[in-house]
Amino acid sequence: MIISFEGIDGSGKSTQAQHLVPWLEGLGKSVMYVREPGGTDLSERIRDLLLDPSISMDPFTEMLLFSAARSELVRSRIQAAHRDGHIVICDRFFDSTVAYQGGGRQLAAPEWLQQFQRAVTGGVVPDRTYLIRVDLATATQRLAHRLGQGAGDRMERAGPGFFQRVIDTYDHLAAAEPARFLVLDGSRDIDSLQEHIRQDVLAHLSS
Ligand code: ADP
Ligand code: TYD
Repeated sequence: MIISFEGIDGSGKSTQAQHLVPWLEGLGKSVMYVREPGGTDLSERIRDLLLDPSISMDPFTEMLLFSAARSELVRSRIQAAHRDGHIVICDRFFDSTVAYQGGGRQLAAPEWLQQFQRAVTGGVVPDRTYLIRVDLATATQRLAHRLGQGAGDRMERAGPGFFQRVIDTYDHLAAAEPARFLVLDGSRDIDSLQEHIRQDVLAHLSS
């Protein structure tokens, strides 16, 4: 089973993903957690380039670098783990590229990016995608300590218009694939969100 977490920066994805791992392990499951961009030596180095605020790059280059990091991660780790029956938890996957580069950067039509991502991942698609939905004000408030200290990464420095387009694109993606996405209200407290996710995972583990 492959599970992905999606949402804008500060929505609470990593918090939820990282709570899910030990719970699944407690059920006797073997779990692999990966974050994107990253998860391999090469992909982590690409991550450093992508998030470095001192580097500027063309949006198409940016999309290719996110995709390159993902291709490497899928082919060197995710495919094998999935084949061996592990539960793979992805803290972001290809929907991030469609939402951020397609919606946020307005680089290309979401349909084109989705088709391209099928090639990038060799057809790997998550079984469940948890979209943690928060509004811009909530996310900004949660990340305020980072941004306030001028420590925001290259992506976090994109303006509010960018992030609103990312939110809107995620909403469209979720509406178009209701069987894969579960949309969660990220303004709820951490524990109740986690409980909702666990119930959903249990339902899909046994199906
Ligand atoms: P993301 O991975 O989506 O960027 P994080 O999980 O890192 O988000 O969370 C960003 C910040 O918001 C962290 O300080 C985290 O503790 C806090 N946070 C996460 N989920 C919630 C929640 N449901 N309610 C309030 N604060 C939260
Ligand atoms: P990260 O700190 O991992 O995200 P978060 O703050 O949500 O925990 O930073 C990854 C950044 O890269 C984040 O701003 C989203 C962005 N991103 C894209 O623009 N496209 C992509 O394909 C991926 C995977 C991430």
